Amino acid sequence: MSKTLLITGGTGLVGRHLAKAALNRGYSVVVLTRRLPFGKWKTSPEHKQLSYCGWTYLRMPEQAVLKADAAVHLAGANIFTRRWTSRRKKLILESRVQPSLALASILRKQGKKLSAYVSASAVGYYGTLTSEEVFGESQPPGRDFTGQTGFQWERAADEVAALGVRTVKLRTGIVLASDGGALAKMLPIFRLGLGAPLGTGRQYFPWIHVEDLVNMYLMALESEELEGAYNAAVQSDTTSKSFSASLAKVLGKPYFMPTIPGFVLRSILGERSKLLLEGSRVSDEKIRAAGFVFRWRELELALTDLLKR
Ligand SMILES: NC(=O)c1ccc[n+]([C@@H]2O[C@H](COP(=O)([O-])OP(=O)(O)OC[C@H]3O[C@@H](n4cnc5c(N)ncnc54)[C@H](OP(=O)(O)O)[C@@H]3O)[C@@H](O)[C@H]2O)c1
Repeated sequence: MSKTLLITGGTGLVGRHLAKAALNRGYSVVVLTRRLPFGKWKTSPEHKQLSYCGWTYLRMPEQAVLKADAAVHLAGANIFTRRWTSRRKKLILESRVQPSLALASILRKQGKKLSAYVSASAVGYYGTLTSEEVFGESQPPGRDFTGQTGFQWERAADEVAALGVRTVKLRTGIVLASDGGALAKMLPIFRLGLGAPLGTGRQYFPWIHVEDLVNMYLMALESEELEGAYNAAVQSDTTSKSFSASLAKVLGKPYFMPTIPGFVLRSILGERSKLLLEGSRVSDEKIRAAGFVFRWRELELALTDLLKR
């Protein structure tokens, strides 16, 4: 019998790639999605081992949890697409925190065990700031919105850990993929030769190729040695400016546009402009010491690969 993997937010960028890789590895996959009414099931027309079940971030269907051998939590209101009003901030936080609490409550009530629980987290855990520090996992959370969101997101996952489930939290950097996320948003502009540095351009840009991230999720699910928080980004000196220059180079496009000043981005995007204007490096030592081997550590090779896909 194949193992069943439950994925919250499995329709998103990371989730689509992870679901595909997990199916290839022989898992059955259940994706929790808001796109179906609560508790309603649908089998994928493309893959009979892939099914979808309706939920909301406040309520998890017990039946889906009872089927699962392991779970991954990726759901969360997108942090960049909408202005950070207080209402939006509450949704960004709660849609990440509540699912772990709901899962813990069902596991407790049903006396059910999972072999592993892997929750997304973000490098924003350390705060959205530009500094010369290379953040390691033992450093404290930042005091700003992303830092406190990361802290509470992880603390909720620890409620599942408290039930004796091996739990891993992946503090993810900017996920590079050709079919979504930051890179897909940048590509049309860069393809026109209109890519420009943002702000000072000196903010660091901690990135990870989606294939490496998916492999990290699979390792976290399967390797008994992994437990707790790990940075999931390549440790590098890539800055926003050097990233843009590499992208233009790989696309064979010019890179001459003047900088878009920080105040312009701040006036258009409000507080979330910090996500573009600030960034620090993170250490990848802990995950590598646990045996993870990045396939993509050279940015230009990673971009070349992604643009072929
Ligand atoms: N992509 C990155 O660069 C990056 C970087 C750091 C951390 N992360 C984190 O990693 C996780 C996965 O990232 P991703 O890029 O795959 O995200 P994504 O593409 O935005 O997908 C997230 C999924 O969450 C679900 N969702 C959205 N709003 C929701 C809400 N209010 N309540 C419940 N579910 C909701 C959606 O599924 P349905 O529409 O099917 O319900 C969506 O497909 C996220 O938590 C993200 O914050 C991502």
